[in-house]
Amino acid sequence: MELPTGLIPALRSASKILVLTGAGMSAESGVPTFRDELTGLWKKFRPEELATPEAFMDHPQTVWDWYTERRRNINKVRPHAGHRALVEMEQLFESLLLVTQNVDGLHQQAGSSEVVELHGNIMVSICSKTGKRIEDSWIESNPGRPPASPHHTQGLARPAVVWFGEQLPAGAMNRATAAAHECDVCFSIGTSTLVQPAASLPFVALSAGAVVIEINPNPTPLSTQANFSLQATAAEALSAITAELAHSG
Ligand code: OAD
Repeated sequence: MELPTGLIPALRSASKILVLTGAGMSAESGVPTFRDELTGLWKKFRPEELATPEAFMDHPQTVWDWYTERRRNINKVRPHAGHRALVEMEQLFESLLLVTQNVDGLHQQAGSSEVVELHGNIMVSICSKTGKRIEDSWIESNPGRPPASPHHTQGLARPAVVWFGEQLPAGAMNRATAAAHECDVCFSIGTSTLVQPAASLPFVALSAGAVVIEINPNPTPLSTQANFSLQATAAEALSAITAELAHSG
């Protein structure tokens, strides 16, 4: 794909990079997004019935089964060329912090070293009462949908993801916001830029004087304000950028 004039020179003169990713980053690996018209999870299911502490309290089995299904699907998928391009990019800059809203662990699987998971990780289980981690071995050897928690008599196992109305993991947003203030370039990839506080990060970077590059086949609230808005898929655009950086290095 043809890259807009000025994008590669802006990256050439950068040393600190912040990358924000959303569900669109995992789409080409086969993980459904949330809000895409046809395939989005929130088009098929009502988030308030599946992704809130209240829903889990009222219907623990329904919620557990839904996450078990999502875990099964995520276990089948693999990172794509876009994930690998971000790993390559780590070698090209002084620092690159990857802040993701995704809970699928695909960035880490691809080899990204500095990953902040703003919304947790779906493959990890925790106690609904204490928040303490529950080992997979306990989940596998204890029936029940969900299994009881080993850490609290009234506790149940739940996925370590952020549900609506819940706090983000301690420190995660502070680290992301600090990087948004300090970065030279901020990428916003595969996110509808609708869910706060993550959606504020590219705007913080913009107001701090960074160059903002959006990658998304569809327009978002950021598109008209980003310095570069690439209407392309994550794999396509990131592969083109790293190829060009490597080529004209
Ligand atoms: P959304 O589903 O809201 O948005 C996905 C975005 O990715 C859309 O703007 C698509 O146009 C774009 N997209 C689709 N395919 C793409 C591709 N191949 N390459 C690049 N972009 C592509 O997902 P998020 O913005 O991540 O939170 O949603 C934010 C949060 O809302 C999620 O983390 C989740 C959800 O509710 C919680 O559950 C707390």
